[in-house]
Amino acid sequence: SDIVPFYGANQAGIATPAQDRLAFAAFDVTSGSAQAFQVMLGTWAAAAAQMTKGLPVGAVDNNPQSPPIDTGEADGLSAAGLTITVGFGPSLFDHRFGLAGKRPAALADLPTLPGDGSLQPARSGGDLCVQACADDPTVAFHVIRNFARLARGTAVIRWSQLGFGRTSSTSDSQQTERNLMGFKDGTRNIKAEAADDLRDHVWVGSETDQAWMTGGSYLVARRIRMLIESWDTDYLSDQENVFGRFKTSGAPLTGKSEFDTPDLAAKHTDGTPVIPLNAHIRLAGPETNNNQKILRRGYSYTDGIDSATGLLDAGLFFLAYQKDPRRQFVPIQTRLGHQDNLNEYIRHTGSALFAVPPGVSAAGDWWGKSLF
Ligand code: HEM
Repeated sequence: SDIVPFYGANQAGIATPAQDRLAFAAFDVTSGSAQAFQVMLGTWAAAAAQMTKGLPVGAVDNNPQSPPIDTGEADGLSAAGLTITVGFGPSLFDHRFGLAGKRPAALADLPTLPGDGSLQPARSGGDLCVQACADDPTVAFHVIRNFARLARGTAVIRWSQLGFGRTSSTSDSQQTERNLMGFKDGTRNIKAEAADDLRDHVWVGSETDQAWMTGGSYLVARRIRMLIESWDTDYLSDQENVFGRFKTSGAPLTGKSEFDTPDLAAKHTDGTPVIPLNAHIRLAGPETNNNQKILRRGYSYTDGIDSATGLLDAGLFFLAYQKDPRRQFVPIQTRLGHQDNLNEYIRHTGSALFAVPPGVSAAGDWWGKSLF
């Protein structure tokens, strides 16, 4: 069956094998009422339980004299592996809802990082996020549209992003997909089958200062534009040195097949490292980062052309889950932002951080219910 259970200890959409399509939105809460906000979250949870079973949020033909309860475009489609994952941004923990004392230390605002010069405020931040993933684009978009509708009067969409062609495999059962640079992406990712990695690097455990986050995770979202036209004029061997991997096979430059372990110490006869010092996998890998890993779950995007230059606005909508961004995303991106060979070909244009609470347990529960 293509139904992924909605209720559970952890939210689905993190360790779930990555689906083909993404619809993502950040929301801002416009109502000052903590009660209205909770009612909205409860309504969203009830709607999510329906949609993840492939059902409408309510009848389409309920009453000719009122708008249909469900918008209808997913009627007749299957659940398509739909997962709906909700997170809370740092701004939610300001004075508005009395939550300042509940803000986890790990939800510290991301510091200004090298390479942040092109970030656009209109594509960054947000009080809440909703990540809808499915194997059908209509099923994924249907979630964002109906959540926005159910939120009317309480929250509004701040920015949104559609994605296609998952750029990370998150299960051993999946073949590794390619990103828009043509390279296999997700080879050394944390996989759903790696229980130790999930425990050590993804799920918040007893180390947290906020018990309500136990079983949750932290999401960093970065919209990363690729300068595709420039990339496409680069020689194959240069492209391979940017990542430290062969383009076709995905093998490390020190290996033969995709899953061979990169040998960071290997040298050419002239003494230069086979995997260059500024190669993406050397700088991002656990060997260089105090054994820290992240679970990447990003998607490719294309948003037409950049009207200023006529070039494609396309790239990677990077999504990464982790236990503590202060130990994981921030140091890794600090290293990448300073040294990565990839920087010549990418621009970070959006950034957001969210605390993703544990799963919704059953009907009547909602995300962060214990916060209030
Ligand atoms: C690995 C592409 C941005 C973290 C890789 C690989 C590719 C890739 C092709 C090798 C295959 C694999 O193991 O998955 C890209 C592209 C990016 C990008 C095209 C931007 C457009 C980032 C960012 C981070 C990151 C912003 C984190 C701050 C990692 C990590 C690995 C990796 C942790 C695994 C390294 C290893 O253990 O060998 N990336 N990446 N990447 N990337 Fe990226």
